[in-house]
Amino acid sequence: MGAPVSYDVVDGIGVISIDNPPVNALSHAVRSGILDGIRTAADDASAAVVIRCEGRTFIAGADITEFGKPPKDPWLPEVVDAIEALDKPVVAAIHGTALGGGFEVALGSHYRIALKSAKVGLPEVKLGLLPGAGGTQRTPRLAGVQAALDLMTSGAPIPASSAEAAGLVDRVVDDGLDAAALAYARELVDEGAACRRTSELPPSSADPSIFAEYKRQLERRAHGQLAPQKIVDCVEAASRLPFPEGSIVEREAFMACMASPQSAGLRHMFFAEREAAKINGLDKSTPLREVAKVGVIGAGTMGSGIAMNFANAGMQVYLLEVNDDALGRGLETIAKNYAGGVKRGKMSEEQALATRERITGTTDYADLADADLVVEAVFEDLGLKQDIFERLDEVCKPGAILATNTSYQDVNKIAAATSRPADVIGLHFFSPAHIMKLLEVVRGDATADDVLATCMKLAKAIRKIPVVSGVCYGFIGNRMLQHYGREANLCLIEGATPETIDTAMQQWGMAMGPMRVFDLAGLDVGYKARQGLPPEERGDPRAFVIPDALVEMGRLGQKTGAGLYTYDPDTRDYRFDAESLEVIETQAKELGIERREIDASEIVDRLIFSLINEGMRIVEEGIAQRPSDIDVVYVYGYGFPAWRGGPMFYADTVGLDEVYKRVCEFRDRFGEENWAPAPLLERLAGEGRSLAEWASDPSS
Ligand code: 3HC
Ligand code: NAI
Repeated sequence: MGAPVSYDVVDGIGVISIDNPPVNALSHAVRSGILDGIRTAADDASAAVVIRCEGRTFIAGADITEFGKPPKDPWLPEVVDAIEALDKPVVAAIHGTALGGGFEVALGSHYRIALKSAKVGLPEVKLGLLPGAGGTQRTPRLAGVQAALDLMTSGAPIPASSAEAAGLVDRVVDDGLDAAALAYARELVDEGAACRRTSELPPSSADPSIFAEYKRQLERRAHGQLAPQKIVDCVEAASRLPFPEGSIVEREAFMACMASPQSAGLRHMFFAEREAAKINGLDKSTPLREVAKVGVIGAGTMGSGIAMNFANAGMQVYLLEVNDDALGRGLETIAKNYAGGVKRGKMSEEQALATRERITGTTDYADLADADLVVEAVFEDLGLKQDIFERLDEVCKPGAILATNTSYQDVNKIAAATSRPADVIGLHFFSPAHIMKLLEVVRGDATADDVLATCMKLAKAIRKIPVVSGVCYGFIGNRMLQHYGREANLCLIEGATPETIDTAMQQWGMAMGPMRVFDLAGLDVGYKARQGLPPEERGDPRAFVIPDALVEMGRLGQKTGAGLYTYDPDTRDYRFDAESLEVIETQAKELGIERREIDASEIVDRLIFSLINEGMRIVEEGIAQRPSDIDVVYVYGYGFPAWRGGPMFYADTVGLDEVYKRVCEFRDRFGEENWAPAPLLERLAGEGRSLAEWASDPSS
């Protein structure tokens, strides 16, 4: 492979070209190459310099694969400072995404020109980091304190036009970036324009009180996270200190973040998400099936959201229901969701209308005859689903992919209702289906490779994060959730309150405590499922008598204004009330349970270690391809804090021997049935190995 950075002189302008696929990350070779280019330009006859990139994007940031390894000179701050120090105008020519260290290279340049389609941003916070090459000091000097704080603490990229308005980009062009950048450089030379060094601008002024207030807001929006708080410290430093001193504050903060377990967790998630898209043993050249027309069966909570995903991605959708009333309700929900999108400025009225019009309601299976994919989302009833798949088998064209959104049912049994089980797969969306990022792709025993590969690709097209799961009750996510939910309910009857449980879990980092989740999903869902089972198959009554009693009083959760909590009908504010407490105490008494104080650490350990223990079984059985896939499921589907890296990464952070010890303690206290340690956990703890070590060679 040739050098990733080249230097040429084009019509008197020095051009530093970076070519380091796929995203021109700032590897050691790229940093060295840019520095060499700058040094060459310093001594040659070029009048100005353009920094540009080959391929699909400008530099997308530091090379994340180098993090955690011994640093090699030159460091990025040194490279950026050398760019800025050059005595000839330097123009950064931005296309694609200029992110993180990439945008810092652009900020070190004296002028910035961007394609209209480009985006710029400082997404380090998403990796538990902050811009470490002058970004925290230069951004507020160019865009002001408020814009800098927003850009860096959200990590969200902004379009070139917004960057231009904020003073972060000087010129935006529709196309022909390379020629425009050369012309811009020539123009600057002709005008005798100065080498505009951002570091020489005075500190950006700001009312000092805004920083404390911003930190308070972050404590709510990014509770417990280190990097956002440190970003505020750095911007505060930029508001009062000269650049060199502010840079020292930045460096110390960057190193502290880099060494934090939070950043380790978030960096793990970055790669875990990308790894999850890869299917072990599947040939990369597997041909894909074309999907342009999609059928969705059932226009309830899930079906209506599922239909929107495909319409949003430009596909034609036929939404099928049992009758016109049910169909009307589904289409109305969809219309409301799009109207909400327009109201929140997510799309224009015209876009909403055009997208909605891609969804056609029907009650006639004949409309699905030429669908490339059908997703079934009717009631959770195996017999009903099998009937529908039998019907699809008769109606759909050969080669159509037949998918079920079932939460728990056996995909193999559903596939067996057809004469083409190879075309059947599970596509398990999460509620609300048009918003939640996770998609569990359930591979049946007979699912064809090309069906699986097509669905993984399709997931990306509809902006989901897919994770492959094997067939088992509840697949990866809900199978583990049963254990988490059981422990939450047991803590409740043993002595905790909904509030103490939710506070403990939210303080620990879960997006929402389990009691609020139960109320949101509806306590009646589990109740109905249990009613369908003979009493001896319903499990441990201590884990469900409270929700069942609440349901029988009409307290189904948020939808009836009360469940474990009561809800304000207007604001949805929730509070724990005396009636709920009475139910809890009565049910405990009836089962002869003497309620006791349960502290937050017991609540957290019981809920999280029960998840981990089941996760261990899931990886050992091969239901998940790798432990990190479980992390992706929990972070994107269940509100697990990304900065803890998902449950399986967290297990390694705690240490498997410690997890094993605690699981054994719980087994001794609460019994073998719920707490038998997973064989893999027991083995790895005994061998002193981590899950990550095991994952690199699962046959060992
Ligand atoms: N370093 C190393 N590898 C990277 C990378 C990076 N910064 N960014 C992306 N990659 C790799 C991915 O792992 C993936 O590898 P794979 O094909 O082997 O799985 C490949 O590049 C393609 O990435 P995506 O699948 O994500 O491609 P997309 O086209 O969907 O997205 C992107 C492109 C928007 C650039 C996205 O990859 C991205 O957001 N990257 C991270 C950007 C980032 O966080 N930059 C800041 C880094 S920290 C920093 O700069 C510190 C500095 O301040 C000192
Ligand atoms: P829902 O009760 O809101 O909607 C089901 C819809 O299916 C109803 O509109 C009903 O009229 C329709 N339907 C029933 N029989 C039909 C038939 N024969 N032909 C066409 N339509 C028919 O149920 P929900 O919540 O949308 O669940 C659907 C499926 O998605 C279930 O398998 C469920 O387990 C699964 N799921 C549900 C999640 C949730 O949070 N609600 C999350 C993920 C999966």
